[in-house]
Amino acid sequence: MAISTTAAAAAAACLLLSFLISTSQAGSPCPFTSSDHSDLPLLHIYGKCSPFHPPKTESWTDTVIHMAAKDSARLTYLSSLVAKKPTSVPIASGQAALNIGNYVVRVKLGTPGQLMYMVLDTSNDEAWVPCSGCTGCSSTVFLPNVSSTYASLDCSMAECGQVRGFSCPATGSTQCLFNQSYGGDSSFSATLSHDSLNLALDVLPNYAFGCINAISGGSVPPQGLLGLGRGPMSLISQSGSLYNGVFSYCLPSFKSYYFSGSMKLGLMGQPKSIRTTPLLRNPHRPSLYYVNLTGISVGRVLVPVAPELLAFNPVTGAGTIIDSGTVITRFVQPVYTAIRDEFRKQIGGTISSLGAFDTCFTATNDASAPEVTLHLTGMDLKLPMENTLIHSSSGSLACLAMAAAPSNVNSVLNVIANLQQQNLRILFDLPNSRIGIARELCN
Ligand SMILES: *[C@@H]1O[C@H](CO)[C@@H](O)[C@H](O)[C@H]1NC(C)=O
Ligand SMILES: *[C@@H]1O[C@H](CO)[C@@H](O)[C@H](O)[C@H]1NC(C)=O
Ligand SMILES: *[C@@H]1O[C@H](CO)[C@@H](O)[C@H](O)[C@H]1NC(C)=O
Repeated sequence: MAISTTAAAAAAACLLLSFLISTSQAGSPCPFTSSDHSDLPLLHIYGKCSPFHPPKTESWTDTVIHMAAKDSARLTYLSSLVAKKPTSVPIASGQAALNIGNYVVRVKLGTPGQLMYMVLDTSNDEAWVPCSGCTGCSSTVFLPNVSSTYASLDCSMAECGQVRGFSCPATGSTQCLFNQSYGGDSSFSATLSHDSLNLALDVLPNYAFGCINAISGGSVPPQGLLGLGRGPMSLISQSGSLYNGVFSYCLPSFKSYYFSGSMKLGLMGQPKSIRTTPLLRNPHRPSLYYVNLTGISVGRVLVPVAPELLAFNPVTGAGTIIDSGTVITRFVQPVYTAIRDEFRKQIGGTISSLGAFDTCFTATNDASAPEVTLHLTGMDLKLPMENTLIHSSSGSLACLAMAAAPSNVNSVLNVIANLQQQNLRILFDLPNSRIGIARELCN
């Protein structure tokens, strides 16, 4: 089944789009002012309030499908992070690919503050932005030379040794340079630097981040990335007692046009009662948020999967993470096959495929689609139907919005992704080593 691109569908999509644009101008609802101290609007990278546009004019569903197709590169990347020996990551140079980062926040960097839309990445620690003079960066870059608080760090600073991929000569004092791969098909080199980071109404002075000098590949976010992992260089570690190791986000519905959710930093304003599941720590990859997924149910049926396919193993990196940068939830092949087979059995009728999705059916069956439940230690996460199915742009098909991890990676990792996190508040509580999840209308 091909993705709908008939002239009629395209024309209809254009009509719909221009209608939405003209109505949007009436009362601009983009949430650009933060009234609350540590509460940041969270924008989908291709949502109406974001400055970025998908590379092609296409329907929203097709954009999501194309973004999901890029998940393979993300999975390769995440697998390279958990692998005991780092695998070499293929670099596709000059590739005009979709960017992998899915959600951006507006921050100001420097003094006076320069506005940047940085991608949130819960599976990364460092922050980095493209800087002036960068080779291969897009036009919007941070200008260190006009910030009165900017400083580059040299190799003698302790922070330099904490950055993944740093390189320093054995003797002499030079700038702390580092080179990292990103997104499975890209890499960049950067100078470790300090400057003031403004988040909503909070100011973090001397924030350590990478000032990017060169990029290769197409996946590095155009205005940088803010790492929300657990390692020493992440926002959570660098903000210390300001946020007490607590933050949460609520991803808006994929269907919502304005598409903004929220990120709350610190204890204030977090849900008072919330079901939680313990966070597991992988000493080899401390930045990833592992949880204990113990089983999956489709409708009332607990899908039969061998426990070792879900078990957390810090040595191999196996287990399940919650990630903000993958579009659809991926399971290791045998687990996905078991889930899909049970889902197909309960749906009945003809099954077709669409993009990354192999379990699609006529959308009139929607109401009969079974509920998917993720069983986590201490919590059953029943996915709302919106977090289970994706509809084709023509609306005639509904697909199970999950897939197997790509077969070209030696994958042991299950990833709970964005589409499955819509309209849920996900609370990361590091001092208590747990993740809380509650239903919330995010947009
Ligand atoms: C800062 O750098 C930019 C880009 O290199 C340049 O265009 C600009 O003139 C510089 N500004 C100052 C005040 O030096
Ligand atoms: C990062 O290092 C790799 C391996 O040495 C190199 O191939 C790549 O070009 C570097 N990336 C950048 C942007 O300098
Ligand atoms: C995950 O849950 C299973 C089932 O309750 C339990 O046997 C296992 O020890 C847990 N794993 C971790 C790492 O807590």
